[in-house]
Amino acid sequence: MTTLVTGATGNTGRHVVAELVRRGEHVRALTRNPAARAGGFPAGVETVTGTHTEPGTLDSALDGVDRLHITAVEGLAEVGPELVRRAVDAGVRRITVLWDGRPGPVERAVAESGVEWTRLEAQEFMSNTLTWIDSIRDEGVVREPHNLPSALVHQADIGAVAAAALLEDGHAGRSYNLTGPEALTPRQRIAVLSRLIGRDIAFVPITHEQAVDRLTATGVSREEAEYVIGWYAAPPEAATTIDDTVERVTGRPARTFAQWVAEHVDRFRRAGAVTG
Ligand SMILES: NC(=O)c1ccc[n+]([C@@H]2O[C@H](COP(=O)([O-])OP(=O)(O)OC[C@H]3O[C@@H](n4cnc5c(N)ncnc54)[C@H](OP(=O)(O)O)[C@@H]3O)[C@@H](O)[C@H]2O)c1
Repeated sequence: MTTLVTGATGNTGRHVVAELVRRGEHVRALTRNPAARAGGFPAGVETVTGTHTEPGTLDSALDGVDRLHITAVEGLAEVGPELVRRAVDAGVRRITVLWDGRPGPVERAVAESGVEWTRLEAQEFMSNTLTWIDSIRDEGVVREPHNLPSALVHQADIGAVAAAALLEDGHAGRSYNLTGPEALTPRQRIAVLSRLIGRDIAFVPITHEQAVDRLTATGVSREEAEYVIGWYAAPPEAATTIDDTVERVTGRPARTFAQWVAEHVDRFRRAGAVTG
């Protein structure tokens, strides 16, 4: 059996690939730019060129594929139904969808296609903390407008749940709310970072508008930036309530934020910093 993973080079897709490989599956990893990704996947992964936001580029990528992991990215909503139609025509019988927080045409198309499918309703990714790297490394500060709790989930746990849903029976028709094992405010996350990096880090409040402007400066549309910062101003209950789905589906506890930090700690340290 072959699984095609879209978004395979991204925050979550790479973990879907890794977990499928760990479980002995044949994986096709989709990327728009295979040259830049050479060597980036585990041994045995077949790298294929294309983009799921242009389903017409996927004919050979879908050839012989039984299972499909769809990562929602910008531009997918418009073409999602065509992607699903092509996938089903090619023989795909089971799909996982990493949703983008807003039900839309991709999920409707998957639901109407008749294939077995599972929605991965991940809450905040721990990898969002990477946006703090520069200000922590350069200034020892984190600037955020809000300090509300979020039960951040490790991307490897999203990968593990996706692989289970793709490979095992019993997950079809389910919508999995995925959180980590603890709800932490930014100040609490900073305390974990400070401890593991070995450096005091200050929380510096900024205004909501400053946070929106900072995000739009990275190329994000104002509408999307308002949505993202608005989420932090009033996180949904599902994002602040600890859910045991990761453990129920994978059979082991969800990874902690401290585990995530330990995996990335050197990226937050100043070059040449002496650590104990
Ligand atoms: N961050 C969070 O806390 C959070 C929480 C819940 C849900 N989500 C949702 O998760 C999704 C993103 O997941 P992710 O972070 O794993 O993905 P990602 O890292 O942003 O992107 C995955 C890969 O998709 C490809 N890609 C990116 N933009 C594309 C585009 N416009 N068209 C085609 N391919 C594109 C890129 O691969 P190549 O360059 O190799 O082609 C990229 O490495 C979003 O829908 C987001 O709303 C995020």
